[in-house]
Amino acid sequence: MKFDTPATINPIDRLKVVGQPHDRIEGPLKTTGTARYAYERHDAVPDHAYGYIVPATIAKGRVVAIDTSRAKAAPGVLAVVTAKEAGHLPKGQFNTANLLGGPDIQHYHQALAVVVAETFEQARAAAGLVRVNYARTPGTFDLAAAKGAAVKPADGDPDTAVGDFAGAYAAAPVKLDATYTTPDHSHAMMEPHASIAAWEGDKLTLWTSNQMINWGKGDVAKTLGLPPENVRLISPYVGGGFGGKLFVRADALLAALGAKAAKRPVAVALPRPLIANNTTHRPATIQRIRIGATPDGKITAIGHESWSGDLPGGGPETAVSQTRLLYAGANRMTATRLATLDLPEGNAMRAPGEASGLMALEIAIDELAEKLKLDPIDFRVLNDTQVDPEKPERPFSQRNFVQCMRRGAEQFGWQQRSATPGARRDGRWLLGMGVASAFRNNLVMKSAARVRLGKDGRATVETDMTDIGTGSYTVIAQTAAEMLGLPLSKVTVLLGDSSFPVSSGSGGQWGGNSSTSGVYAACVKLREAVAGKLGLDPASAVFEDGKVTAGGHSLPLMQATMGGELVAEDSMEYGDLEKKFQQSTFGAHFVEVGVDAATGEIRVRRMLAVCAAGRILNPKSARSQVIGAMTMGVGAALMEELVVDKRLGFFVNHDLAGYEVPVHADIPHQDVVFLDETDPMSSPMKAKGVGELGICGVAAAVANAVYNATGVRVRDYPVTLDKLLDKLPAV
Ligand code: MOS
Repeated sequence: MKFDTPATINPIDRLKVVGQPHDRIEGPLKTTGTARYAYERHDAVPDHAYGYIVPATIAKGRVVAIDTSRAKAAPGVLAVVTAKEAGHLPKGQFNTANLLGGPDIQHYHQALAVVVAETFEQARAAAGLVRVNYARTPGTFDLAAAKGAAVKPADGDPDTAVGDFAGAYAAAPVKLDATYTTPDHSHAMMEPHASIAAWEGDKLTLWTSNQMINWGKGDVAKTLGLPPENVRLISPYVGGGFGGKLFVRADALLAALGAKAAKRPVAVALPRPLIANNTTHRPATIQRIRIGATPDGKITAIGHESWSGDLPGGGPETAVSQTRLLYAGANRMTATRLATLDLPEGNAMRAPGEASGLMALEIAIDELAEKLKLDPIDFRVLNDTQVDPEKPERPFSQRNFVQCMRRGAEQFGWQQRSATPGARRDGRWLLGMGVASAFRNNLVMKSAARVRLGKDGRATVETDMTDIGTGSYTVIAQTAAEMLGLPLSKVTVLLGDSSFPVSSGSGGQWGGNSSTSGVYAACVKLREAVAGKLGLDPASAVFEDGKVTAGGHSLPLMQATMGGELVAEDSMEYGDLEKKFQQSTFGAHFVEVGVDAATGEIRVRRMLAVCAAGRILNPKSARSQVIGAMTMGVGAALMEELVVDKRLGFFVNHDLAGYEVPVHADIPHQDVVFLDETDPMSSPMKAKGVGELGICGVAAAVANAVYNATGVRVRDYPVTLDKLLDKLPAV
């Protein structure tokens, strides 16, 4: 099925099941520990051995010699695989560095070997016996120092320009020119990367933890030189990914290599201390923002430049992308520059681009509003645009951004904020409020599904879609239930298996809308088959309460399967509606902080997000996603920083003791409001995504609240007390 004209009224609009706040259908499995994650599949692979990865302990250079003899002789060891044994393996399409390094070493903690043994402890002990002699070569590890040599990246739009930015900025009566920095971030998902590999002849099965099953299947096949049909990935439960599991990583490849060498299935998990440097991260940025405005607050010039770094062959953090679309202004420019760094591989992390970009842009907007003596909400509202500012002939499909700001201000009690920083106190706490815009583009991806209607009256959906904690199982079940007129309890959803039809996968907040649209397409086909069996007109048939009604006749749905199961498979693909209409999601984040006047300790007291993101398929799981994203945004604001050792080239704080993230207890009150909105340009579901919108702008709202509390403007994240302490108002 192709989606190329705006959605009209369809069965989803009945909202009997879709749009209702349902518990996660797989929730009981997860809360009782019976949902098995990749590393726990002893049920499917009872006889597997364990692999342990030997990582490089230099950032750049060569392996001169690698001595595995003591490891091979250690108790329980079945095999040791290095690049010497494996041969030179091509990289996958999505990897910048080789998952198995050696002799060349591209980054710290790049995997150099896997040691396979009967038990985990034996594998770990033997891995410690592998001796590697290195020849270290100097590397580049400091973004600030490498910035001058940064170049235009090969892909994307490294430079954009509309009107005369330089002229308009120079002439602007009120202006801001400020530079902000964001550090490297680690995904820090709960479930570490893990895989179990099993070979049957030249066919490989991987139980793994991955967001994008079909990408992973292709990459494993390419790396191992297998036909894709010989590779099967199984990933029904994923304990968080945030972009860190968009691509297969060393655990999957080394489990496969280890299993081949040991002639046994092998399980490999990345130990937590390996994840920060072995896998991908959100790259640090340096961002310069210049905005010029009229005295009454109309933006006349807006410019955003961003520098980030990556390994050779890598890409930039696209931190300027929202600035092209968020605010009006006739004269505009953006520039993206990429430095070569020898740090671990940078890549997508939750709202790649916008999350980092808004961390800077939304402080800049706060700063300029203050210069203009405007309320920061009024300033944003004044510069709203209903069209793509670069292409005014191109409207937004929906843009209820102003409504998010206004609704949030009312609900949060924004009028209690003092425009003068440092003016509100609660005992020793300085109180402040901050606001920021949330913006993230809406992406759609082709997605397929198969739906079976059994003789028992149950519908079963099969698709290789993943549920990374987002609620995919539930929204997919809701979609099938709505389409077939069944209760949710009559729908089974099977996900995360590459033997199922290829879905959108989970990424870029496209998964919920795209995968349910694929299920919608398959259900349309199944409804036709059902109507055909019942002799009813498929176009007018209504599926409701287990019955199909058309032309005055009403028949039980189950009558259609008397002759056996009915099966339908289809996909949803997209025409050019996203070219004709700019499709984005919007929101407003509100934060209240208390800052200890003596110590500078920052505590988030309250948060509110108001989101406009099309139809909300399941308000309960969507709320949970946004609350998670808000929490993650607080991490970016106040805690998270992969600290770079600029001499040796690695992330120093590579575990959860040193890389801190917020927990529930850190933020007592969080609330989420979804505006009642549908977007018929987006898909037949009229939905968009919220999983990434939720983090966009949060950190800036926190930083702005800290400024409002203290009068101290911190432009270098994270906003930690050492950056406030000597500037706090006298107690
Ligand atoms: Mo997302 S960063 O595309 O998982």
